[in-house]
Amino acid sequence: MDIVVISIGGSVLIPDDNDFEYLSGLAQLLIGLSSKIKLYVVVGGGRISRYYIKLGRKFGTDERALDEMGVDVTRLNARLLISALSGKSNDFPATSVAEAVVLGNDRPIMVMGGTTPGHTTDGVAASLAEFVKADRIVNATAVDGVYTKDPNVYDDAEKIEKMSFGELLECCKTSDWKAGPSNVFDAMGAEIIAKNRTPLLVVKGRDLEALESALRGEPFSGTTVGGV
Ligand code: UTP
Repeated sequence: MDIVVISIGGSVLIPDDNDFEYLSGLAQLLIGLSSKIKLYVVVGGGRISRYYIKLGRKFGTDERALDEMGVDVTRLNARLLISALSGKSNDFPATSVAEAVVLGNDRPIMVMGGTTPGHTTDGVAASLAEFVKADRIVNATAVDGVYTKDPNVYDDAEKIEKMSFGELLECCKTSDWKAGPSNVFDAMGAEIIAKNRTPLLVVKGRDLEALESALRGEPFSGTTVGGV
């Protein structure tokens, strides 16, 4: 059975756009696939975590505490997905990668949010993938792949269909960690997957057809990092 880790952004789960319908469809898809693929789902915090981090920073809250606020939001979102999965997953989000491994042995689908300060849920997904020796990581995002520049801002942005691990590392390079970054994948996560050569498939999470193909490891519309 293939082992797949999914990193799914908060901006995909709850953008306030038919979220109930989307979550119901996503849960059905995951439940359906769970008899054929071992699924580990890591849920992000999205806009809401960034909002809390922005307000907290204005009060002078330190970066560690801001990260912890972000983690709280990811776990809240994870609880929502757990509700949608109606008993097919663990009952409470795993709080560490080690706990996720244990809970994953128990239920068809394992769900968690963030863990500790200093990275995003992409980093968690990469660490988890390393632990469970995942065949691939599917990064379900708000856009349908990696672009040469922000497609929401630039009309001439072009989609990149394939990237090497080296190119991923280059585009995720950051200097200092600050809570709430926005990047293709976080720097820590990129290093882990490049070291382990775990393929990363970037797909639009709201496109359930493309998401299903990526989860199955079949040709899909999006960006493939590292080849399959
Ligand atoms: P996210 O993983 O949601 O970051 O964590 P993101 O880049 O905003 O991802 P999307 O938009 O959902 O795809 C939100 C914030 O929570 C903190 C970080 O500050 C991160 O930016 N966090 C999250 C941690 O410190 N540790 C974690 O394990 C997870």
